[in-house]
Amino acid sequence: MSDTLKTQKTIERLQNRIAPIEMSSDDFRAAGHGLIDAIADFLTSLPERPVGPGETPAEVRRVLGNPPLPEEGTSPHQLLEETANLMFEHSLYNGHPRFWGYITSSAAPIGALADLLSSAVNPNVGGWLLSPMASEIEALTINWIAELIGFPSDCGGLLVSGGNVANSVGFLVARRMKLGEDVRTKEMMGLNGRQPIVYCSRETHTWIEKAADQFGIGTNAIRWIATNEKPQIDSDALRMQIDKDKADGYAPFLVVGTGGSTAVGAVDDLPELGEICRQNELWFHIDGAYGGFAATLPEGPSELKDLSKADSIAIDPHKWMYSALEAGCILVRAPEALIDTFSYHPTYYKFDEAIEEAPINFYEYGPQNSRGFRALKVWLGMRQVGRQGHFRMIAEDIQLADHLYGIVDQHPELEAFTQNLSITTFRYVPRNLIGDQMQTEEYLNKLNEELLAELQNSGKAFISNALIGEKYLLRSCIVNFCTSLEDVRA
Ligand SMILES: Cc1ncc(COP(=O)(O)O)c(C=O)c1O
Repeated sequence: MSDTLKTQKTIERLQNRIAPIEMSSDDFRAAGHGLIDAIADFLTSLPERPVGPGETPAEVRRVLGNPPLPEEGTSPHQLLEETANLMFEHSLYNGHPRFWGYITSSAAPIGALADLLSSAVNPNVGGWLLSPMASEIEALTINWIAELIGFPSDCGGLLVSGGNVANSVGFLVARRMKLGEDVRTKEMMGLNGRQPIVYCSRETHTWIEKAADQFGIGTNAIRWIATNEKPQIDSDALRMQIDKDKADGYAPFLVVGTGGSTAVGAVDDLPELGEICRQNELWFHIDGAYGGFAATLPEGPSELKDLSKADSIAIDPHKWMYSALEAGCILVRAPEALIDTFSYHPTYYKFDEAIEEAPINFYEYGPQNSRGFRALKVWLGMRQVGRQGHFRMIAEDIQLADHLYGIVDQHPELEAFTQNLSITTFRYVPRNLIGDQMQTEEYLNKLNEELLAELQNSGKAFISNALIGEKYLLRSCIVNFCTSLEDVRA
């Protein structure tokens, strides 16, 4: 083949270009309809399935078959059918009515459709120019979430991947606003040699250790404040520690209160922590990733009622708003604080010039530049159910958790420990235990650990565990709109 012909062929191909990844409109329609039908059947079938496949990693890998990187492609229709089956048959279903593990919610079906729509339009929600409607919808979603939980709705905020990142953004804003602009340019210990200090309790999720580690202050900078029996941060101990650190020349900057702890759903005395922060000019961040949604629920815990004193709050739609993974959210009282913390201007971004009114460019508000449209599934979920629908769902989750506590408490071989929000902890205690106290506790820990593993493998229900003191407990967390009374009783 001559060079000219080769070039001619290339020109023709490029003139009528059909990329290998294209799908014709008809193919897209057929594959999409097929997939939606399969998903609808799958969702309907969930209650009849075991909660999980109970397979080992080796078994799952065997099913996948370790195929080599394909040299040529396969039809999308076939791929989607095959992959849907792989996912349907070899997944743990957190949308199963009897899934109550960790703090992972069942996912609102509208979110699956929202993700499809958002991927189809594919706005880049880093810059307004690249995502006009999506940026406005995300901004509105932030306002609505704030209003829902009683935080000032003129706050700033953005959606991120989940609670770890939402809290980390709060941490970074606190660091910038309380330690000053220099934290963005100088080595951390170069700030007059004063070690920055953070206060929280051991009930705080491990995001705090990740943040202290990743963002340069080190985990030794965390002061673990003792808790009372609830277990809430002991405010007297907190005051004393802050005074001591100030006297010793440290640089305290942040107090973290938890609104619904991961282990037992405990809520710190948030109004009191807010007051301590105000008096000491510290940043007050609330980790409300889970429990924050119950803040304005009429029957929610009183300590959670006033979130409005916080400087920032993390809250996860993929927990108690039933948004599909991933959707976390950070709210910051003063929107400029986010910009002061994160904004850099790439020379190739010209987002402000063409538009008269100052647009919201989310790349300036957080760690990402290119950003997906997470807000759509959250926003549509909120619109589908409204404030009242949302309240009803989380109130019912709490009622079911409370009912579980009651059943466990009545049972001769179960010992109930705690119930806060929608988390219940308990353990199995067989009758006629012999041995001294220490031996018995060790035995019970082991027994309950084995029981949990067996229950998880059985596929009958999925719960997880909590440690209270030295006690290994079973833990059920109902953030699941599919669960009914019958499921809890079973
Ligand atoms: C209170 C709290 N904060 C933060 C997180 C971390 O959230 P994510 O796993 O979405 O990063 C969790 C997770 O369960 C949590 O319960």
